[in-house]
Amino acid sequence: MSRTDDPVALDEWYVVGRPEDLSIGRPVATRLLGAELTLGLAGGAVTAVETETGRALPVTLAYGHVWTTLGTPTRGLPPIAEFDETDRRLATCGAVHVRASGLRLVENFLDMAHFPFVHTDILGVEDRPTVEPYDCEIRRDVDEVWATNCRFWQPQAAANAAGGQMSDYLYRVARPFTVLLYKTCPSDPARQDVIGLLIQPTDEDRSIAYAFVLVVDAVSSTTEIIHFQQTIFLQDRIILENQRPRLLPLSPRAETPTRADLSSIAYRRWLKEKGLRFGIDRREAA
Ligand SMILES: [Fe+2]
Repeated sequence: MSRTDDPVALDEWYVVGRPEDLSIGRPVATRLLGAELTLGLAGGAVTAVETETGRALPVTLAYGHVWTTLGTPTRGLPPIAEFDETDRRLATCGAVHVRASGLRLVENFLDMAHFPFVHTDILGVEDRPTVEPYDCEIRRDVDEVWATNCRFWQPQAAANAAGGQMSDYLYRVARPFTVLLYKTCPSDPARQDVIGLLIQPTDEDRSIAYAFVLVVDAVSSTTEIIHFQQTIFLQDRIILENQRPRLLPLSPRAETPTRADLSSIAYRRWLKEKGLRFGIDRREAA
């Protein structure tokens, strides 16, 4: 497939890698929105080029990742204030290739109902499967989707959790392919750990997922933090790759009721308002 002509998708910033995965004289080929990109390192700066046209793309380094765009974004990267707090630790969790629309990855990230069954005895237990009522809204002031007052019993909420806890969650879909989670920090109940899922939509039905964890955790090693997140995400990947269709339908009626919960409905409505086409199942749109 060639580069999409969807202006809504083009005019966004996307993560396309991590700076530490690039080295001088070794260009890396990757894909974004159906286009081939070449990433490199020259004169200490990360470069991104649209391979077919040779066009140099803007590059921003932020939140432990390399961001670029094929279009003309009307706004910058989402602000994440916690990156200014110097006692936090950042762990980035590499790149996981997933055969699914990036929008499916975001929707799955928002879905608490799967915790007891997919992340059994980590993020949920099978005898406490209930998702308590929570609030969800499209925040017009920042043009984001927020799900607040989410609560879930978790036997192993984080790498450093000793025993179970009732976790408080706040989900923030900051961009169509960028979602953040703020959750109770096991070592300091007054603060929240931040987990980001940053998606590189390579093609409509294929994605590369990057994650970061920005935690207040003086105990766990970085390896333990990364291993914890990878364990969770590899469990999700099995579910995601078996989901059909691979693209996201925008009508909640297209899915079973458990999938079509409040945050999923708000997310789909928000995408529909934006007129995004890339990664969306359009067969039902007529
Ligand atoms: Fe999951």
